[in-house]
Amino acid sequence: MATRTRCVTFKIENWNFNQVIIAASQAAFKVEQAVGHDGSATTQQDVSNPALDRSKYADPSGEKMKALIWMGKNHVEVQEVPKPHVVEPRDVVLRVTGSTICGSDLHLLHGTILELQKGDILGHEFCGIVESVGPQVKNVKPGQRVVASFQIACGECGPCKKKQSSQCEKTNENSLAAAMYGTQTAGLFGYSHFTGGFAGGQAEYVRVPFGDVNLLKLPDSVPDEKGLYLSDVICTAWNAIVDTGVEKGDVVAIWGAGPIGQMAADFSLHNGAARVILIDNNWRLAYAKSKCLRVETLNYTALKRGEYAKGWAHYFELMLGMETDTSELVNEMLTSVKSYGRCGITGVYTGFTNHFNIGALMERGIRLIGNGQAPVHMYWEKLLGMVEKGEIDPLKMVTHRVSLDEMDTVYMKFDKKEDGMQKVFVQTKFSAPPAKGSPVLTTWKE
Ligand SMILES: NC(=O)c1ccc[n+]([C@@H]2O[C@H](COP(=O)([O-])OP(=O)(O)OC[C@H]3O[C@@H](n4cnc5c(N)ncnc54)[C@H](O)[C@@H]3O)[C@@H](O)[C@H]2O)c1
Ligand SMILES: [Zn+2]
Ligand SMILES: [Zn+2]
Repeated sequence: MATRTRCVTFKIENWNFNQVIIAASQAAFKVEQAVGHDGSATTQQDVSNPALDRSKYADPSGEKMKALIWMGKNHVEVQEVPKPHVVEPRDVVLRVTGSTICGSDLHLLHGTILELQKGDILGHEFCGIVESVGPQVKNVKPGQRVVASFQIACGECGPCKKKQSSQCEKTNENSLAAAMYGTQTAGLFGYSHFTGGFAGGQAEYVRVPFGDVNLLKLPDSVPDEKGLYLSDVICTAWNAIVDTGVEKGDVVAIWGAGPIGQMAADFSLHNGAARVILIDNNWRLAYAKSKCLRVETLNYTALKRGEYAKGWAHYFELMLGMETDTSELVNEMLTSVKSYGRCGITGVYTGFTNHFNIGALMERGIRLIGNGQAPVHMYWEKLLGMVEKGEIDPLKMVTHRVSLDEMDTVYMKFDKKEDGMQKVFVQTKFSAPPAKGSPVLTTWKE
């Protein structure tokens, strides 16, 4: 018998979101435009595509680049748009040599994140080579190979000084976010105007505000195919484990066997967990088991159900706009964990939910922890060291190498979990040939 249990959730997919919410989501941006930002940011907001104001945001050379653009619900396209350039003195423009898709991008694809606009460039995980720098950039130079953090931090405010980079107070001045959450969280690359409206890195070039702070140099011994994942997934999985407080001897249950769930399983064992149980409903469970024998798996569709399929109450409440997120998975954690155990939430939730089992939480003394968007800057140097030493192998979760040119196809395949696809490495025309041990290019072109 385990003495303690920790639960970590990685995903609740708003699979029943409907047009009401989509319309509300885009109307939210109109409201934000009418109300106005609160003026707290020290970097330009709403620069989600250089085409928005060519005279200010586009490179004067007129050079074009390919980028993945959000066109509407379940519709993304690779388009030619202007190459970005240095807008502010601390900007870096990066030549992208690697990017990927994240489970979080599916929330964008499905249109469930507030304030996406047609034309926004997506992508919050990327690495590349420094192309140009603003006059106040000190730590990086053109030609250096770097990885970006998915969040944009100023490096100087209170949270930044504590390396709580995802909570930076100076990179997102969205008023609606402040009204909903009490205060805004940091700006994010390629993740809607709700988080600042920054262009993302699923592109050939990307502008990185406060480049000094938000880029980490990659040593020669760490190829792009490994270093890229320090942008998000490695740090997010690590944060889920240490922030929830997985300790030696714990039994850990993880809802969602995607890349983050799999890395979190690895990290739990690394930190001494006695057992790790991954919960999901598809082939990823077998994949995870093939990569890590010690992981136990549970397919929840094989469990006995009650008279009604789960989720009907939430189905209608989502449809009627009565909630934005469902509480089912959190309730499952609360009722599975041992009394005085801990539950951490790393999967993305954006608003409000009904039917939350507050009784279980209170009566059994459960600690429910919001892990936040992972503060990448707190961990990425340590984790880079672990990658260098071979203690972490990010390639374990990478199933495909794909081309930016085919990103629209990749989004659809990734969404449907087709072709055994989970974490991908997206190459651009600037990428080096595949590093040793990483997948060769898959293409769907005739
Ligand atoms: N907090 C952060 O900093 C942060 C950063 C990156 C990603 N995320 C979030 O973490 C989550 C996981 O990311 P990923 O890239 O591994 O996503 P993914 O979409 O590749 O994988 C999620 C998995 O969860 C499973 N799932 C869905 N509903 C489930 C349920 N009710 N019970 C059990 N399993 C269920 C899916 O089948 C899927 O295999 C996403 O929600 C993503 O948005 C958070
Ligand atoms: Zn991500
Ligand atoms: Zn800051």
